[in-house]
Amino acid sequence: MSVRPRVLVVDDDKAVRAALTVNLGKRDMDVSAVENPTLALAALTASSFDLVLTDVKMPGTSGLDLLEKIRATWPDLPVIVMTGYGSVKDAVHAMKVGASDYLIKPVERDELMVVVDRALEGRAIRAELAQLRQEVQQRYGFENLIGATAVMLRLYEEIAAVADSNATVLLEGPTGTGKELLAHALHYRSRRASKSFVRVNCGALPASLLESELFGHERGAFSGAIRQHRGTFERADGGTLLLDEIGEIDLPMQVKLLRVLENGEFQRVGGSETLTVDVRVVAATNRDLRDEVRAGRFREDLYYRLNVVRLKVPPLRDRADDIPLLVNHFVRRVAEREGRRVPSVMPDDLERLKRYPWPGNVRQLQHVVERAVILSRGDTLDFALPDDEGEDRLPAATQAAPVTPPELPLVEALLRYERNLIIAALEAEGGVQARAARRLGVSRSNLNYRIQRLGITLAGVSYS
Ligand SMILES: Nc1ncnc2c1ncn2[C@@H]1O[C@H](COP(=O)(O)OP(=O)(O)OP(=O)(O)O)[C@@H](O)[C@H]1O
Ligand SMILES: [Mg+2]
Repeated sequence: MSVRPRVLVVDDDKAVRAALTVNLGKRDMDVSAVENPTLALAALTASSFDLVLTDVKMPGTSGLDLLEKIRATWPDLPVIVMTGYGSVKDAVHAMKVGASDYLIKPVERDELMVVVDRALEGRAIRAELAQLRQEVQQRYGFENLIGATAVMLRLYEEIAAVADSNATVLLEGPTGTGKELLAHALHYRSRRASKSFVRVNCGALPASLLESELFGHERGAFSGAIRQHRGTFERADGGTLLLDEIGEIDLPMQVKLLRVLENGEFQRVGGSETLTVDVRVVAATNRDLRDEVRAGRFREDLYYRLNVVRLKVPPLRDRADDIPLLVNHFVRRVAEREGRRVPSVMPDDLERLKRYPWPGNVRQLQHVVERAVILSRGDTLDFALPDDEGEDRLPAATQAAPVTPPELPLVEALLRYERNLIIAALEAEGGVQARAARRLGVSRSNLNYRIQRLGITLAGVSYS
């Protein structure tokens, strides 16, 4: 550690405070010593420490109470507790509630040093880990891009590699795979990040409007052009322009685009002045542009001009291992947006979501999750998929054993266990669901969801 570690000693015994201050001071630590937990909390609030050493038995608040308060407020701060020989069970308890280590009094100097060094090292390692994690996040977790499968990591690497060049990038991939998000990431990783990122949906405008949208127009260029209009190429000067759905533009427009891509020059519609801009172009399409070229719908020269760097974004079903990450990300985001507690996702739901083919890719997944969170009551999520609508809601009368794939023995065992618990609770409460729910410590609607999912019937009564 480059700076002197700061240690806070808490003990009501003046002699102990003095001894620890001297011993730790010799090891180049910056020691503060206080005589009770109240003063300790005040010191911790006033400045930052790397380690706390506290006695357990003190008049008033005990060291264990102090430990719990520290855990709640400074979860990363290591705490070592000191107990007498007679109260080893206090040490055990302290370890359970989150002490990093304990020392038996009277404290021996060598042991003190070993334990203190170990705690400080652990803290340093955890800090380093957090730092690394943040770096990885910055490197691979571009903005809101989630995904850690090999294909996605390669894509992030490719993006990072080309971000700083001015090369035109072509993003090809099916709808909803994240092309626009990747274009954003490319922009924000580039030297152009402080300039604008402008997107034009080339498929959304008729040819004549698209031209004036891209290049702008002079006043009076056509009826309705009541004032001069700066196009997106001008607005993106110095920055990045995303030409979205590039596969949709017609052939005459392709010629004009080729020209501006080649030398950065263009004219506003109805204008004669030649304007020059410095724009990095990213094009995106869910078509296979090479097929479009073969079919004569897309100019080969423009295709090659756009295709300096070509990035293929895979469909979600080809990176199903990212689905749990994405689901949890969206669940958290929607729950936070809606100001709700973040519900947890059941493992068997994740398995089902992983198996679904996702024709609408990440966008569709996002919508399914969003809907599940918004419609959820209590803590359970019900993911409705178009093809297996209702799979989770089999009528209870079918008296089904849990619907579980045979390759998941753990899940199956847990479901069976859950089922038995629920049946026992229902029996004990004479079949009254509200009381059974209370007994099980879940909400009524949560119990009802579980009953339906497990297909529980009892003494001829179906609980669906
Ligand atoms: N890897 C990802 N991590 C988090 N969110 C993602 C990811 N990929 C896509 N999304 C989200 O999914 C939605 C669709 O993404 P995006 O608009 O970038 O797709 P697209 O490929 O441009 O689709 P289209 O071809 O239909 O325009 C967006 O809301 C986006 O935020
Ligand atoms: Mg898009």
